[in-house]
Amino acid sequence: MTKLFVTIACALAALTPAYGRDSNSDIVYGADAPTYTLARTALDARSVPFANHSANAPFGSYLQQTLDFAPFKKLFDQVNATEKTLKSRGEAHITVVTPPEFDQVLKPAGITIQEIEAIAKARRIQSARLRPVCLGRFKASLPTPASDADKGQFTLYSLVVADVHGDLLAIRQDIYKLFRKRGGEGALFQPEAFWPHVTMGFDRRDLFITDGVYKGSNYCYAPIRLSKN
Ligand SMILES: *[C@@H]1O[C@H](CO)[C@@H](O)[C@H](O)[C@H]1NC(C)=O
Ligand SMILES: *[C@@H]1O[C@H](CO)[C@@H](O)[C@H](O)[C@H]1NC(C)=O
Repeated sequence: MTKLFVTIACALAALTPAYGRDSNSDIVYGADAPTYTLARTALDARSVPFANHSANAPFGSYLQQTLDFAPFKKLFDQVNATEKTLKSRGEAHITVVTPPEFDQVLKPAGITIQEIEAIAKARRIQSARLRPVCLGRFKASLPTPASDADKGQFTLYSLVVADVHGDLLAIRQDIYKLFRKRGGEGALFQPEAFWPHVTMGFDRRDLFITDGVYKGSNYCYAPIRLSKN
């Protein structure tokens, strides 16, 4: 009986899609980490208007789900109460297509930001169903600083998010299909190279994959407790 149960559990686990991996219980928290609190509805952006980012300038075009800043301001204040040197962007969002992905890969294949926005709207980006995973932290120097200005320690905090139903991933997959239709080189756009998160605050600047920083559940530092408001 137990063996049958284990077999079924293993079969179900094997069926869990890759984008659900952050909902697994293999999270490692920092030994000294406190628990932070976030409003249960913080990632519900259904009533937040879609905001386009389509400036015709380098790093000016990208796709994001816009979030209500108020609950994230409360989380920022909890983190900054001990860090004391963090800067806030004064807004909250989840980047779905990054500026380098657009500028360096999608735009050269002839895809416009308006086409990407049309896909996002058809997929109802603001209604994507998401779940908080943990508070992520990077507090170290970069493994390969690009210049002297990038030497020394950086501190960065983000809320790691699980795209539990693959709603945001579906947008990236539609963009990938359009990219291939336009003759794009497949190796250059990987829809699943995507670690949804909300940047909370940093001391020097935000950090990216190009800095060697991956923001999946590997990035977890502290647990998040969900509160009523
Ligand atoms: C994009 O947003 C700007 C305001 O930031 C607005 O004026 C413009 O009409 C929007 N464009 C589209 C296509 O929605
Ligand atoms: C972070 O905390 C410091 C020290 O209390 C404060 O001076 C600073 O204004 C805070 N940052 C923000 C963005 O609120």
